[in-house]
Amino acid sequence: MRAVVVRRGESKPRVAEVPKPTPEPGEALIRTLRVGIDGTDHEVVEGNHGGFPEGEDYQILGHEAVGVVAEPNGTRFDAGDLVVPTVRRPPGESNAYFERGEPDVAPDGEYLERGIVGAHGYMAEYFVSDERFLVDVPDNFAADGFLVEPISNAEKAIEYAYASRSAFEWEPASALVLGNGPLGLLTLAMLVGSDDFGRNYCLGRRDRPDPTIDIVEELGATYVDSRETPVSAIPDAHEPMDFVYEATGHAPHAFESVEALAPNGVAALLGIPSDHSFEFDGGRLHREMVLQNKALLGSVNSNVRHFEAAKASLSSFPDWLTDELITGVYGPDEAERAFETGDDVIKTVVEFGAV
Ligand code: NAP
Ligand code: BGC
Ligand code: ZN
Repeated sequence: MRAVVVRRGESKPRVAEVPKPTPEPGEALIRTLRVGIDGTDHEVVEGNHGGFPEGEDYQILGHEAVGVVAEPNGTRFDAGDLVVPTVRRPPGESNAYFERGEPDVAPDGEYLERGIVGAHGYMAEYFVSDERFLVDVPDNFAADGFLVEPISNAEKAIEYAYASRSAFEWEPASALVLGNGPLGLLTLAMLVGSDDFGRNYCLGRRDRPDPTIDIVEELGATYVDSRETPVSAIPDAHEPMDFVYEATGHAPHAFESVEALAPNGVAALLGIPSDHSFEFDGGRLHREMVLQNKALLGSVNSNVRHFEAAKASLSSFPDWLTDELITGVYGPDEAERAFETGDDVIKTVVEFGAV
């Protein structure tokens, strides 16, 4: 079968012929429909994040997928069911994190990530998965269901942010998303759609006209250009933020976000930067956090509960949003084009087949 892979020693995606997988007991065979590409996939291709499956000289890419059950193989699914797979898998033997349904909090070494850390991904005509890691989705998710995975990452981070403020009456009203990539824009849409955040902002570094700025403004949010208004200047230029969501992967933003917060606010960090040294006034950061009860937290991955929540969020999005967000649909033979970046590219997908 055809798959989009990265080979050891290379840093570009290519289409390859690989063996079609056979499901083991407890696993279903899934025919892939669409697989999305995000910033992490680029980091994997460039060799900056994740790693190859043990003993393999290539890795099948992709961790955001939607597909159709081709062979239920005794699992709870019927042939034809539409499913979305989660990302983390046990490294051989299962462990307590997986047993209690919380692989997203497993430490390094206690998990693999399909298409990212030590395991093949979903960017192939077929993949197999243990049924515990498949989430059923409605029939109308065939085109956009791959977005359930990135939305689930945001569901988890937002849940953690609320949990960190749950000891007192927290009444958030303003939110700032750092980053106008696909993760930032999807999260902005979630915050705009929530009852809590009446005033929403999104930070980028692009000139108008730009399709991501159009989405920010069509969502009713305010675009902030980091070249004119650095993160630390946002409270003066706009307003202090109750919630900051970092999705740039630009390491200084992790710390500057504290300065953008209102008292009692919380910042969630999701970006995955490379090593990056810079000077920062640690005393000011420390003081701000303590004297104003601010919280700074990191969040990675998600579990089935977050995938379930993400289904509801995706269903609530206006149709125009996914139409504008998905800027390219490519066949597996066009893998290199699918991974091309540019100011007119927001989110691309590799499509293997129709329902
Ligand atoms: P992406 O496409 O790389 O988006 C990052 C966006 O941030 C880009 O639009 C970029 O602008 C913007 N940006 C970067 N530096 C900036 C700056 N200094 N000022 C203003 N804007 C800046 O990635 P993504 O797929 O949206 O994901 C965002 C990050 O989250 C990545 O690091 C990814 O690895 C990570 N991630 C983490 C999780 C998790 O579970 N923690 C899940 C998914 C993704 P330009 O396009 O103009 O360069
Ligand atoms: C994926 C997560 C994963 C994280 C770190 C993200 O792009 O969506 O599932 O845990 O990268 O590898
Ligand atoms: Zn991702």
